[in-house]
Amino acid sequence: MIDLSKLPSDLNPQLLPPHVAIIMDGNGRWATKKGLPRVAGHRQGARALKELLRCCKDWGIKALTVYAFSTENWRRPFAEVDFLLMLFEKLLKRELAQMHQEGVRVSFIGDLSALPESLQNQIERSQKETAQNQEIYFNVAVNYGSRNEITRVCHQIATKVQQGKLKLEEISESLISQHLYTANTPDPDLLIRTSGEMRLSNFLLWQLAYTEMYFTNILFPDFDRNAFYQALLDYQKRDRRFGKIAVSA
Ligand code: IPE
Ligand code: IPE
Ligand code: MG
Repeated sequence: MIDLSKLPSDLNPQLLPPHVAIIMDGNGRWATKKGLPRVAGHRQGARALKELLRCCKDWGIKALTVYAFSTENWRRPFAEVDFLLMLFEKLLKRELAQMHQEGVRVSFIGDLSALPESLQNQIERSQKETAQNQEIYFNVAVNYGSRNEITRVCHQIATKVQQGKLKLEEISESLISQHLYTANTPDPDLLIRTSGEMRLSNFLLWQLAYTEMYFTNILFPDFDRNAFYQALLDYQKRDRRFGKIAVSA
């Protein structure tokens, strides 16, 4: 058995993805399979996430971005939405001190204005308190949808042009990137989606343009260090060409 508290020796520390993004899917199915209510899956998913964040830190991965609630997730039954929003708030309150102590910088992306005020306040507090931390950047997408994000950018840029603050010729890829919620964050190197679904469900459509994708049937609450290790092993076998030809060709 390898000791997964340290970076496994067959992983190359030079080839770790600096930024990992995860679509944490399958909480509901995990619970249903066990005869539990769906919300039990969300609770267990939160435990899996805590462990993964620690793992990223232990292994030297600089940034972790997770999809926690999409703009489409409002379509779920009220009780489940309500539970999730309460869970986010409770977890943030409970984990903030420890995350801060461990040097985690917490940020949220998405349209936060639609969230309950008490959650917004907790988010604000967490971001402020951890803003100077540098051990690991932990980004949580809540009420996040890529189309919503890009539409918002269009509005912002069009307004600046209309007001004469920006010239048409100044609109570039980097200017657009600078207006996204993820401004100043390098794009993810590896995207993991659990639970066997092979779609992006409106997550980081612009930012994932050159990201390596990894899909696994494991349900998120079961996605542990070993499963993460397998994903990283797979990633390290990829040849990231970015449109060029292979080095050996
Ligand atoms: C992911 O698990 C968590 C959220 C979307 C909030 P799901 O709740 O989507 O679980 P499944 O896909 O129904 O199993
Ligand atoms: C995507 O999962 C959103 C999150 C993980 C937060 P969903 O379970 O909502 O996605 P679909 O509906 O299966 O595409
Ligand atoms: Mg799902």
